[in-house]
This record gives sequence, structure tokens and C-alpha cells, in this order.
Amino acid sequence: MNYDRILAARTSRIKASAIRELLKLAANPDLISLGGGLPSPESFPLDLVMELTEKVINKYGSAALQYDTTEGFTPLRKALVEYINAKGIDAGLENIYITSGSQGFLDAIGKLLITPGDYVAVEGPTYLAALQAFNAYEVHYAQMQVDKEGVIPESMEEIIQSYPVKFVYTVPTFQNPSGKTIGVQRREKIAEIILKHDVLLIEDDPYSALRYKGEELPTIKSMAPDNVIYASTFSKIFAPGLRIGFFVAPEKLGRWLVLIKQGVDLNTCTFTQALATEYLTGGYVSKQVQKNINLYRPKLETMLKELEDNFPKDFKWCEPDGGMFLWVEGPEGMDMEKVYKRAIEKGVGFVPGTFFFPNPGDGIETMRLNFTNIAEEQIKQAIKILASVVEEEMKITSIN
Ligand SMILES: Cc1ncc(COP(=O)(O)O)c(C=O)c1O
Repeated sequence: MNYDRILAARTSRIKASAIRELLKLAANPDLISLGGGLPSPESFPLDLVMELTEKVINKYGSAALQYDTTEGFTPLRKALVEYINAKGIDAGLENIYITSGSQGFLDAIGKLLITPGDYVAVEGPTYLAALQAFNAYEVHYAQMQVDKEGVIPESMEEIIQSYPVKFVYTVPTFQNPSGKTIGVQRREKIAEIILKHDVLLIEDDPYSALRYKGEELPTIKSMAPDNVIYASTFSKIFAPGLRIGFFVAPEKLGRWLVLIKQGVDLNTCTFTQALATEYLTGGYVSKQVQKNINLYRPKLETMLKELEDNFPKDFKWCEPDGGMFLWVEGPEGMDMEKVYKRAIEKGVGFVPGTFFFPNPGDGIETMRLNFTNIAEEQIKQAIKILASVVEEEMKITSIN
């Protein structure tokens, strides 16, 4: 049967992506991968999960295995009210909803708000799977300019004034992929702009808990509560396999998103929501987050030092205070897809940065490196190999 013939028109925007084809090359099990975006399996609290599983069965019994409300497991939503209030976000039960990962929210917001041809303002680069989620709804992107401190507010305002933007999507803290963080003053300016133009902003925040130095920053949500939906997840503070994400929204939008979610999965896994409830109310988050920080901080420091010691001088990279990624920019003319293919042959994987840009062909000289999922010794080895591949490529393409 010719299946292509029956595919919906919207699939034209989700065609087999070049990135998947390219990443297939990374299937070699001996590869040192700086490519994925995975937390370290060492970070997962297996004994605690065993203990909490028993607690869940004793406490909730069969309710933990039953269908539940689409809004989310009520004890978890109640616990999240406290968690979120402690972050300076003023929200009640009617504002907090659970999704299957924060990815579940990104798809739902696309489905709710994007009519084919609508514009969404995004950072360049931005989170790849957000682009994938929105693409399915036949969106157009307006790319906001960024510098060392993330989105430039003036660029955001210009985009809002030039395009009929449905919403702005941003990852303001330790962004995936760039590692960049928007500072307090810019956050205030951004809040001011969205209020002035009455625009909705999606603040996607999976990484702020993974802070290795510096002070926690206020959320944009806390500065413009009616114009921001804040999304976050247990993936980086507990474990991604549980698939528990949540969002904080004005009630009216929350109700709509619940209707959308009903048609997708009825409810997020009740059992893992009950686990997350016990995790949160048992006070385990701060201990686990500290464990993750202790695990990841030395990896980040090692990667930064190796880059400094080995990479050619005309390369630049960010020095983030947290998160899971480093973003490296090569000189003009550098093609990281070519570097990628050579690096794979030498046993090292990464993601060429161009895939994170909404406009094809942008960011060809960039790469994203993950430092959380490999040992420090491997980081040292991988960066040395990458540096030699990069130097080879520079010679071949006569850069310098
Ligand atoms: C910026 C960003 N948003 C959302 C997600 C989705 O996370 P999850 O669906 O595991 O909650 C990720 C995962 O890596 C991410 O980097």
C-alpha cells in the first residue's frame, strides 16, 4: 500500500528530519556521545523509588492504578502549589496542571493556539523538540535575536510588532541548546513588553534547579502572571522515565489545555504521579538536586577546561552556571555537519547546532555538547579528539 498517499497535509512539516538520519551514524555502542540530552543514570535514586513505590501502594492502594482526572493527581497538584509558590509564583490549585512530561504541554499548547500559518516567536537556537511539536500544527517562526545573555528584548518587541505572533516561546534559564540564561533586568524588560503588547509567553524551565553557581533568578511568570504560562518537569529533578511535567497557567487557558489533553491521553500516568507526590511531600527534592549538582558540576568544569586547553583560539563557547549543555561556535566557514561525520569516525558524537535553528542553514558553525551523561575521563578524551577533528577540518577548508 502507498501510505504516503493517505498522510495528513500537516505531516509535510514533520518529514524525516536530517537530524535523525545524521544521528543514525551515532549508533556505534563504543561511541563517546556528547550528543544526547540525558541526565546521568547514576543520578537516579533507585532505592528511594523502591521505598516510595511501597508507600504509594500502602497509601493510595488501587487509586494509584486507576484512571484519574485530566487536570492531574490532586495530591500532586496540591504539593506543586507549595513548590511553585516557593519559587515566587503566585498560583493556586486551579492554575496547576500535570502533563506527560513538559513535552506533553508543548504539544498541547501548539494544538490549542496554532492555526496553520500562525507565527510563533522563538530564540535562534531553540529547543528542537518544541519546534517539532509546533511544526505539526503548520506554524511559521519569527526568530528573535540573541546575544550572550539570551533573547534581546528589543528584538522580541520588534518581532511582536512586525508579525502576528500567537505566542513567544523561550527557555530563559540554562537554555537547551545554548546554555544561556536571561538576566533579571532583561526578564523585567521582557515582562514589560509582553504586558504592553498583550502577548502570551511560554516560559519553559526544565533546568533552573540544576544551578552549579550563582543565585536563583525570578521567573518571568512571577513578573507577568496573566501573560505567561510556566512549564517545568520532574525529568531533571527526579527521573525523565516517569514522564511527569506540569504547567502553571491562567485558569481559563488551563481549562482549555485540559480539554486538549483529554483527547490525547485522558490522564498522565497515575502511578508515577503518586510517586512524584510522595517524592515532593517527603522533602526529597533538595537532596536529589544537590546530588545532581555534585555529580554534574565537576563534569562541566572538566569540559570547560578541556575546551580551553585544546580548542583552537578562534572558537568561542558559553560558560553557563548550570544546566546540561555547552554551546560552541566556530569561525565563519566552519561546517559542523562535516565535523560531525569525521568525529563519528573517530568515536565521538555531538549535535551540529544548525538543527536547533528554525531557519534551515543558520548556525552551521555551531555545536551542542552535553556534559551530564559521560564520565570525566571520557569528557577529556572526547574533547581532545573533537579538537583534533576541528583542526583538521579547518585546514581542509582553509580557514585561517
Ligand atoms: C527545553 C526543554 N523543554 C522541555 C523538555 C522536555 O522534557 P520532559 O518532557 O522530559 O519534561 C526538555 C527536555 O530535554 C527541554 O530541554
